[in-house]
Formats: sequence, C-alpha cells, structure tokens
Amino acid sequence: MSKVRIGIVGTGYIGNVHARIFAKDERADVSALFDIVGERAEKTARSVGGRVCISREELFENCDAVLVCTPNKTHPDIAAAAVSAGKHVFCEKPFAIGIDEAKGLLDVAERSGKVFQVGHNRRFAPAYVKLKELLSSDKVHSAHIKMNRGELLNPTWTGDTNITGGFLYETTIHLFDMMRFQFGEIAELAAYGSQHEYPELDEFSIIFKFHNGFHCTFASSSDASWHFPFERIEAFCHHRTIMTEEMERILDSQGIDPNFETHSFHMVEKEERWGYVQEDAAFIDSILDGNASPVTAFDGYKSVELVESVYRAIDSGERVQFD
Ligand SMILES: NC(=O)c1ccc[n+]([C@@H]2O[C@H](COP(=O)([O-])OP(=O)(O)OC[C@H]3O[C@@H](n4cnc5c(N)ncnc54)[C@H](O)[C@@H]3O)[C@@H](O)[C@H]2O)c1
Repeated sequence: MSKVRIGIVGTGYIGNVHARIFAKDERADVSALFDIVGERAEKTARSVGGRVCISREELFENCDAVLVCTPNKTHPDIAAAAVSAGKHVFCEKPFAIGIDEAKGLLDVAERSGKVFQVGHNRRFAPAYVKLKELLSSDKVHSAHIKMNRGELLNPTWTGDTNITGGFLYETTIHLFDMMRFQFGEIAELAAYGSQHEYPELDEFSIIFKFHNGFHCTFASSSDASWHFPFERIEAFCHHRTIMTEEMERILDSQGIDPNFETHSFHMVEKEERWGYVQEDAAFIDSILDGNASPVTAFDGYKSVELVESVYRAIDSGERVQFD
C-alpha cells in the first residue's frame, strides 16, 4: 500500500509533536494541515511539509487519516465529521466532554469500520509498559496514585471549563485511563473535591474499588507546583512496593530489606519516553493491518465516564457504582 496520508486539524503544541513523528515514519506522509489560525498551519508546513488547507473539508479531501489535535470541547464535532468523511481518526484526549457527547461519538466510531484511536499516550510509555510487566508477575493489593499539575495557565484555555470540560479532563484523565490499563475495570468510587485557585473544583481525593477486589486512592491537584514527580503510581504487592516517577523511572523494592532496583528511562528521547512515537506507530499499524487500535473509542468513552462519575460523586455526596 502507498503511504498513509495524514491530515492534522489543530497545529498547536501536540499537533506539532505528532507532525514531527509522522514526518519521520516512512509509512506515513503528512499531507494536509488545518488550523483556525492559518499561520500556525503554515509554520508546521514549513517544518514537515503538507498542504495548508483553509477548511477541514479541504483537509478531509487530501488525507486518509485525520488527527484531531484541537482543544477538548471541539473533539467530538471534528472527529465525527472525519469519520463521516470515511477517514481513520486519531483523536487526542479527552475523547469528548460529557457523557452524551461521548456516547454519540462512541456510536459513530463503532459503526465506522475505520480505525479510531484515542490519544492516551501513556499506555505506550516504556515506564508504564514495564510497570504492567512487573505487576503481571505479582499480585497487586492496593495502590496510591497522584496526578498533579503546576498551574492551569498554559495554554490559556486550560483554565477555561467551557473549553476543557473541567480540570479532570486535563492531565488527570490520563491516569484514569492508566488505572483501567494496569488494574482492570472499576466497580465503585467515592470522591471529595474542593475549589481554591481557579473558578472550578481544582483539588480531588478519590477512592476506587475494582471488580477484581483491588482498591486504590487517587490524589489530583491543579496547583501543586511542577515538583518532580508530579505523576506517580505506588503499587503495593506482597512485601513489595513498585513506584513510578513520572515516565522517568521505576523503583522496585522487594522483600523485607529496604533495597530497591531501578528501571530508568531518562535517556530515552522525550517523544518516545512519553509514548507518542509508539502510539503513532500503532495507529499506522492498525490502518495497514486492518486491526482495531490499541486504545479504542470505548477506552476513550470509559475515561470520560470516570471523569463525569467523579464530578457526580462530589456533587451528590454519594458513591458511584458501575456494572
Ligand atoms: N496526549 C497528550 O499528552 C496531550 C498533550 C498536550 C495536549 N493534549 C490534548 O491535545 C489537544 C490540543 O492541546 P494543545 O496543547 O496542542 O493546544 P494548543 O492550544 O497548543 O493547540 C490547539 C490548536 O488548535 C487550533 N484550533 C482551535 N480550534 C480549532 C478548530 N475548531 N479547528 C482547527 N483548529 C483549531 C488552535 O488555533 C491551536 O493552534 C487538547 O485536547 C489537549 O488536551 C494531549
């Protein structure tokens, strides 16, 4: 087959990350770019090539696969239009905002017969792949998870709930997806939230119980500084603690002595360390092999369901249960 022609809608930060990666993949060709700020698409075209389009319709006519890299609230509309145009779709996280939009897009994606992948890149990050491998060799009992941000100021729209859907749709949602990837399906959650720095709930403490008996605590703060590691999973097994430090390192302490082994990934280039290179390669693999993507529309839907359930639990003061 000839190269997969990639069209990118939204050539801001993450659109350019993907553009650079696909430009290096010999099975892909960055063929079309569209951004409502035309200069941004022109700048990207100067670095990786591709036709600068003046509408998304023009972009659809000039590609086989569409990457949706615009701010959160625009994802369902653009992704559904791309599916309707018969394109494979890679949709950045969050899959959608709100359960109705998520259900609508899930329905469209599942009926499309094309590849639909959601940008939960961390599933491909070597640190989290290694964590899954270590956990599969042991029985994990419980865990503590942290997913913080330093601010909601950059990009400016990250503090605007009309665009983000709420802080949990920002980085926190990545580790909601990660919990399903590492530990299985969630049966019940209880959540507390409060508001401090921004005009929305910006601090969260959540307890999750899983169908397999596993349980964990989860903390997420929007204004905790960017102190390392702002993202961490501490998993507790039989006389063993396995701790991640962002996507840089895993510390694995086994037995009853305070020793630990380190798995380090800091020498891996950032775009690979964060899993972007691997998720983009997997998207091309799925298109060429005709297989479902490794992060499906259903996975995207489930992460939105978790975000909405946490907000609902805080609002109602009740636990939320899942079938
Ligand atoms: N997976 C990750 O690790 C990761 C990292 C960063 C961002 N993201 C997600 O990617 C999306 C984009 O984030 P970003 O940081 O690149 O934002 P950004 O502000 O840097 O870029 C967004 C671009 O989209 C353009 N745009 C806005 N509305 C548009 C529309 N309707 N049609 C065409 N272009 C439009 C803007 O002009 C801008 O250039 C967000 O949903 C964010 O949550 C994911």
